[in-house]
Amino acid sequence: MLRYLTAGESHGKFLTGILDGFPAGVKIDAACVARLLERRRLAPGRSARQKTESDAVEITGGVCKGLTTGAPIALLISNAAGRPGHADPWIVKPGHADLAGSLKYNVPPALIRERASARETAMRTALGAFPLRLLELLGIYIISRVTLLGRAADISRAGSSGPKAVAAMLAEINKARREGRTLGGIFEIYACGVPAGLGSHAQADRRLSARLAAAMFSINSVKGVEIGGGFCLAMEHTENTVDFPEMGLGGAVFRTNRAGGIEGGITNGSQLVINCALKPPPAFAGPVPSFNLKTGKKAAFRPVRHDTAAVPAAAVVAEAAAAFEIANALLEKFGGDSFGEIQPRVDAWRRRTKKILRGA
Ligand SMILES: Cc1cc2nc3c(=O)[nH]c(=O)nc-3n(C[C@H](O)[C@H](O)[C@H](O)COP(=O)(O)O)c2cc1C
Repeated sequence: MLRYLTAGESHGKFLTGILDGFPAGVKIDAACVARLLERRRLAPGRSARQKTESDAVEITGGVCKGLTTGAPIALLISNAAGRPGHADPWIVKPGHADLAGSLKYNVPPALIRERASARETAMRTALGAFPLRLLELLGIYIISRVTLLGRAADISRAGSSGPKAVAAMLAEINKARREGRTLGGIFEIYACGVPAGLGSHAQADRRLSARLAAAMFSINSVKGVEIGGGFCLAMEHTENTVDFPEMGLGGAVFRTNRAGGIEGGITNGSQLVINCALKPPPAFAGPVPSFNLKTGKKAAFRPVRHDTAAVPAAAVVAEAAAAFEIANALLEKFGGDSFGEIQPRVDAWRRRTKKILRGA
């Protein structure tokens, strides 16, 4: 079983992460982790903080000479940015975790924000580089694209992620920055090459759809998750919501993927498709009305630097989160403590499912 923990605050000295249960013999190095972190850090829409951070990652356990050893993988990322000056740590930032967290833990809102901040997702991304690499070596690839940002017309759900869509996204971000607004949006995750049979319908907590949805909802600001046709299926005629098999030379083929690659909580061999909607970061150009949790009196919350859009960066975090869940389900099905053990089992299973589809 794969599991992970992270620790550290947004402006603490380090972010720390441990990934346990990861197999031995997977070829990976710090550069591979750094590339993923770089995509998160330099995603469009980030604040000036990202220029201060280098997100240099140190692998302090579980990897020797570029190969995982089967021991827990331990990572460290240093924080460079200093703590922004909080006028009063007891003033609640509306729309963040401040109020709920302070009521629960009885500590100042500013302290809650330090851990609730999406800075923590840097470590989740770094840890996710390991399952992503395992899957890649098994021919499973996870990619993402932004399909909606604010009201940018050219990044439609049916649109491409080509230069036109990127230009529209950057224009929308620059406009929002000038106007002192932040942007929400939608990203889409695809996983290609996922073998059939991961997850199970047999128990609620073994459904891969449920696990993937929980992983997506664990990402800050995610307010909606769809698998396959998602919410649109609710309004469709039944025949437009089902993937009908057609018989080809190699057996049954499916020309649609309305299920998004999962039926009954089990992967069916088609591409996994997940959409996530994010609210805009709860950040403002000037002071906003709030209150002081210590005095109970009205107070203005004064914003500090913030991201204009989190969607492009969150999409990278989601690739890592999806990889963790898919790799976990894959290890549950195939077992094995080293890559050398796992790979032939996956190959054999792929051959077998192909045969079954041909009626053998
Ligand atoms: C990649 C990423 C970057 C974010 N950047 C900011 C930010 O700069 N300022 C901010 O107030 N919220 C930001 N957020 C959103 C907050 O982390 C989030 O709203 C907060 O944790 C409250 O949690 P909730 O919105 O999930 O309920 C960001 C979220 C993500 C995923």
